Amino acid sequence: MSDVSEPAAPSARHAGSPFLAACRGAPHDTVPVWFMRQAGRALAEYRAIREQHTFEEVVHTPELAAEVTLQPVRRYGVDAAVLFSDIVTPLQAIGLGVTIQPGVGPVIDRPLRTAGDLDRLRRLDPEEDLGHVLDTVSLLVEELDVPLIGFAGAPFTLASYLIEGGPSRSYSRTKALMFTDELTWHRLLDRLASIVGASLSGQIARGAAAVQLFDSWAGALAPEDYERFVLPHSQRVLEQVGDLGVPRIHFGVDSGELLGLMASAGTEVVGVDWRTPLDHARARVPEGVGLQGNLEPAVCLGPFPQVAERARDVLRRAGGRPDHVFNLGHGVLPATDPGVLAELVELVHAEGRVNAPGGAQAATAAPPAAVRPGADRDPVTDPEVGP
Ligand code: CP3
Repeated sequence: MSDVSEPAAPSARHAGSPFLAACRGAPHDTVPVWFMRQAGRALAEYRAIREQHTFEEVVHTPELAAEVTLQPVRRYGVDAAVLFSDIVTPLQAIGLGVTIQPGVGPVIDRPLRTAGDLDRLRRLDPEEDLGHVLDTVSLLVEELDVPLIGFAGAPFTLASYLIEGGPSRSYSRTKALMFTDELTWHRLLDRLASIVGASLSGQIARGAAAVQLFDSWAGALAPEDYERFVLPHSQRVLEQVGDLGVPRIHFGVDSGELLGLMASAGTEVVGVDWRTPLDHARARVPEGVGLQGNLEPAVCLGPFPQVAERARDVLRRAGGRPDHVFNLGHGVLPATDPGVLAELVELVHAEGRVNAPGGAQAATAAPPAAVRPGADRDPVTDPEVGP
């Protein structure tokens, strides 16, 4: 920890962090690992707190939210913490009437469907509206030895909840608005982009050392629709925090066909779900943008030898490059045995070696395609590609 009274810049405080190095493709020795939804119901100590408090109470009580954020860091020895909050928290903060129903997800009292509903999306002042959440960030920054990841839901994913009224399979109302009233669609996403950008900026101002933008449901879109209806707004969010000195991670589920576009939104790292092997993802994402992922979360419901085998496959496909952050392909499933995740972290730390200088240069200096692993080769059929 820093010994000066002013809070040091995250980059200085975490000078040796393999997670931050990997986000930048900078040299480090060991592949870093954290898990999306690492806090939460898989942990008995989380369930014990939830027996006493609602989800919203935990999020809005800095001491509780900080404790729940720290629980997986202590248990698993992960290389980063992720703020305990939710993607809908900023929407709740501006009075939209969102409840999180256990086993369901966020549910909206009065869904937004027309141009007239837009006025209900007022601007977010992070310190005014999210003070408690930001106080959690401050507590955690004091407490943690690893970087804290702040996060937000991306405009499309938030819009899908607001329009559908809750979780959806088809996103038909969301897409209906997109294809019938493009002007209202863009005005809605523009407002959401401002809210999300303000929330992320607030978290960074209080010391979050990296941010992840969750566009969890963007994979529901064809690439051309993603590019036209969504990308400009996610781009604006990521631009708003682009000068704040912290790496950005851009993640979606079922986003194999969108990876190149998601990388182009202005991000240091793209999160990859388990459906796209990491070496295939590498071929779709330009040099200079790192990859996060991507063990199938359900594999962790099985016996550890199988988890180990699959984790080694992820590491092999990542090729020892310095721009890989190990993670699951989506969040930890509540039924996961925490012991398995603890062993998984040990394995990644023991076996996830980052290749020495050549690899580091490959990521930062982007040499010609001919010497770039996998750049002009089929990663599946070419035995030369990979470690
Ligand atoms: O550990 C962490 O990753 C940090 C905390 C976190 C939560 N939600 C806590 C939570 C993060 C980063 C999120 C993001 C989030 N929330 C996303 C994006 C990530 C993803 O999964 O794609 C989405 C889509 C949501 C919306 C949401 N909130 C869902 C689908 C659910 C689960 C509903 C259920 O009961 O299955 C929530 C509630 C929620 N958010 C829980 C947690 C730990 C469960 C609350 C509980 O019952 O204790």
